[in-house]
Amino acid sequence: MASILNLPPKTNAGLPRVDGPLKVSGAAIYTSDHNLPGMLYAVPVCATIANGSIASIDSDRAQGMPGVKAVYTRQNIGKLFRTAPAQDFTGILDERRPPFEDDNVRYYGQYVAAVVASTFEQAVAAANAVKVTYRTEKPDVREHLETDEKPKVDSKRGDPEPAFQSAPVKVDETYVTPTETHNPIELHASVAVWDGQNFTLYETSQAVVNHQDVLAQMLGVPQENVRVISRFLGSGFGGKLWPWTHCAIAASAARNLNRPVKLVLTRDMMFQSVGHRPRTQQRVRLGATPDGKLVSLMHDSLNHTSILDDYSEGCSEATAYSYSTPNLRATSGLVRRNVGTPTSMRGPGAVPGLFALESAMDELAIKLNVDPVKLRLLNEPQKDEGLNLPFSSRHMVECLNVGAEKFGWSQRTPQVGSMKKNGLTLGWGVAGCSWIAERMGSEASVDLRDDGTARVSSATQDIGTGTYTVLSQIVSEKTGIPHDKIEVVLGDTDLPAGAISGGSWATASSIPAVLEAIEKAQQSLFMIASQGKDAGLAGQKADAMAFTNGCVHLKDKSPDTGVRFDQILTAANIRAVSGSGKSEGTFGNPNRKHSTHSFGAQFAEVTWQPETARLRVSRVVTVIDAGRIINPKPARNQIEGAVVMGVGMALFEETVYDPRFGAPINNNLADYIVATNADAPEIDVTFLDYPDTVINPLGARGVGEIGLAGIAAAITSAVYHATGIRVRELPVRIEDLLV
Ligand code: MOS
Repeated sequence: MASILNLPPKTNAGLPRVDGPLKVSGAAIYTSDHNLPGMLYAVPVCATIANGSIASIDSDRAQGMPGVKAVYTRQNIGKLFRTAPAQDFTGILDERRPPFEDDNVRYYGQYVAAVVASTFEQAVAAANAVKVTYRTEKPDVREHLETDEKPKVDSKRGDPEPAFQSAPVKVDETYVTPTETHNPIELHASVAVWDGQNFTLYETSQAVVNHQDVLAQMLGVPQENVRVISRFLGSGFGGKLWPWTHCAIAASAARNLNRPVKLVLTRDMMFQSVGHRPRTQQRVRLGATPDGKLVSLMHDSLNHTSILDDYSEGCSEATAYSYSTPNLRATSGLVRRNVGTPTSMRGPGAVPGLFALESAMDELAIKLNVDPVKLRLLNEPQKDEGLNLPFSSRHMVECLNVGAEKFGWSQRTPQVGSMKKNGLTLGWGVAGCSWIAERMGSEASVDLRDDGTARVSSATQDIGTGTYTVLSQIVSEKTGIPHDKIEVVLGDTDLPAGAISGGSWATASSIPAVLEAIEKAQQSLFMIASQGKDAGLAGQKADAMAFTNGCVHLKDKSPDTGVRFDQILTAANIRAVSGSGKSEGTFGNPNRKHSTHSFGAQFAEVTWQPETARLRVSRVVTVIDAGRIINPKPARNQIEGAVVMGVGMALFEETVYDPRFGAPINNNLADYIVATNADAPEIDVTFLDYPDTVINPLGARGVGEIGLAGIAAAITSAVYHATGIRVRELPVRIEDLLV
């Protein structure tokens, strides 16, 4: 295990992205940029019903169209297997049914056939010419969620029902978050190559190692015959964490035709068949004493899932540890609908869950006539009362206090509509937020080379969040090698198995492995120096040596008495020393000694113009306690992006299913509204920067998802403060505010 890197806290503060020049110059190669000799194009045929079965597929006309090489259906695609249930964090996919497995259609847009042709245009034309007839049944895409099934108890302590009944002050409300669709600008894509024995799959993947495992199983080949590459991602937001059925179609077609095959989804397909955040309906009951102490908390949530797969959103993720209360129960249940299988979307569980819980806390504050910041401080837990474990590091109180200070919260007058500025009514709202801090198992390799350069590699990914930069930074800080001499290689299963780019854990997971790899490479260098002829080092014991700023020297002498590492290698005629590092994951560890999470406070200001019914989010102050921040620049960028996404969640985003046909009808970027620059408020991000060394030696917990948690509740609470209207079903519509 690597030793703790002892650095001054702010070195390299704000290093710009090392991959920035590649991206802004268009030189970064994304999945769909791969064009290979002889490559063909696949276009899926999507079901136009959401429930029923295929009666017949007539592909005669499509077969005869120009450029068409194949029309695949269940009859001729070849065998595609299911993945075995995973024992650990491997073999993950949310839609488990392989494409074309049977003739049943369970959601609109399910693939029923695929055309492969010489050009994309030919494939599109032929896909449109495939005639599919269906036995149609009425789809169930009802928004209201209810179930007779017994819900799962996620957490329980004390006796919450009677404690709620007898509580002097009560809130009992139901909160709804709609289906939301991930809309990274980069479309999902697969470029599959088959060489007669091996697959090379260029994928839009946030987790190439898992992708390799899943596709090897689906294709029925040994894992070593599948290489997965994902060098750059135009983001994913969780939608690209696990493989989707189109990946198996592309790979299968490549094998069948012995030609490279490119399959790029269209934006409308992305609303159908590559996951979404499911609709949630959450009843929250809070009971409190008149002075604001919580005596009972019940959080019962439902989410929709697809007909075949059990996707639980996990809305109670943050419920059990957010507040101190002796009595608590959190349950969750699933309701089946004719929709594609849901999946993780930025802050799964906690984000919709905290919308409900933090909205309810605001409603309780109003009933109690207590300031909402104060109510949270009053109920601050000393430990994770759900797990009965100490927090590794929790600075929620400081987040709230610093945020209140920066926001100017003490100026707030609680009466609805009482604050005015420039002729506008102001609303101010606050919410707490939190997110899981864990590590995934990770391996990395570091080379120190005779030309003074270094290379660090790991089969993790940079999904736009800054992984290339952060790994370069760690190697640079530990070795003194400048960034322009450090090569970072990611996103390829030929590299040491790295962590998923999910859960905001890629940095936290990679750090221990990279540190260990650096240390091993340095040890190897010490042995070479010890055997070499360099003055002062030859014949010295390797364990008497240290590595500082690119030089090997004796521990008891100053670094400038040492020899540069590249000189040592050159003198020995060795190209490079390599070190490998490996760290275990913490996720799912049953023997944990700490509750590990990041925390934060969100303060939002809205402006409301009743005359024109114009609502804007004007200002957000966010204070984040995410352990040590390795690089404030991309970290701040993550939180700012999450806040903007939070504006979208609060005011715009909602996937609407047509109740007659089950189709997601606003399946494009014109009708599915995401927040844009014009909607972005003034954003003030503060990091508390307390290293959490339970998570890794550098104390970095990771950012990315936490910035979205709590924002929607802070905004709807601000909307209430401005208008007197509590919106419990997102998004807030202007109609909701017209009374
Ligand atoms: Mo994130 S939803 O874990 O990519």
